[in-house]
Amino acid sequence: MLLAPLVQPAPTLPLVGSRTAHQLRVPGTRAPEARVACGPTLALFGFAAVAGLGLADRKGRRTARRALSKDEWRARCSNSSGGQVTFDVSVTKPLGVELREFPDRPGVGVAQIMPGGGVSNLNEQVLVKGAEGMWVLEGDEVVAVNGAPCAGGDMDSVVPLIGAADATVTLTLVRNWLKTPKGPIKVVFLPSGDSTSVNRTTPLSEVARSCEEQVRYGCRGGHCGSCWHQEISTGKVFKLCCESVPTNWDNTMPLILKADPQKLGLEDISAPSLV
Ligand code: FES
Repeated sequence: MLLAPLVQPAPTLPLVGSRTAHQLRVPGTRAPEARVACGPTLALFGFAAVAGLGLADRKGRRTARRALSKDEWRARCSNSSGGQVTFDVSVTKPLGVELREFPDRPGVGVAQIMPGGGVSNLNEQVLVKGAEGMWVLEGDEVVAVNGAPCAGGDMDSVVPLIGAADATVTLTLVRNWLKTPKGPIKVVFLPSGDSTSVNRTTPLSEVARSCEEQVRYGCRGGHCGSCWHQEISTGKVFKLCCESVPTNWDNTMPLILKADPQKLGLEDISAPSLV
């Protein structure tokens, strides 16, 4: 399937997107842009399931998903220093991403990820189904394409490299997890598998709403427990009714929130009242 970059005016996309995938526009990105058109859903890899935490996806199938620590996510990167990580992803074309030049730093990066493209499928495999490897986040800079360096390049130098690649292309990406400007954070809800990329400090209730995640709210102060979600890598409990996306989250790893208040010992207060 051919890569089909389209140069077109930037559409205004709200944070709230489709149920299965959501996009965050990188603030202040400027034209020119290249949108790599989405095609039919493609199976990227024949990953073996990772042993560990078993979960059911939204179609009821059992999937294997093991919670990785921050160090384990960083170990999937070729370099981690200076507030940046560098890593490779192998993606099947069409990629289904919008590339743009950054306004505040050199280079070309990922501005949007469209559902159904190769990048979206890769992210689902890694983030939801526990496949090996890294995943793509809005704001990642493309620094090499199939080993050909393009760090700090412009659209005219980066897009042709992708266009000339075979059906599967290896992108080398750099992500700022600490270095300014800090990138967004990928939030994934389990077991639905719905995800979105959001700016730090975004209220978690807003994040859940954008994902059309079904959350019961019984209070506004974080004490009733009905909205609580547990982040699977850290074990931290997030109270969606009154907490926001943390400012200091290392976005090398996703923020994976599992809705399971009963396992937090909240059977009594999360049960519906029968009157
Ligand atoms: S709705 Fe009660 S703890 Fe969040």
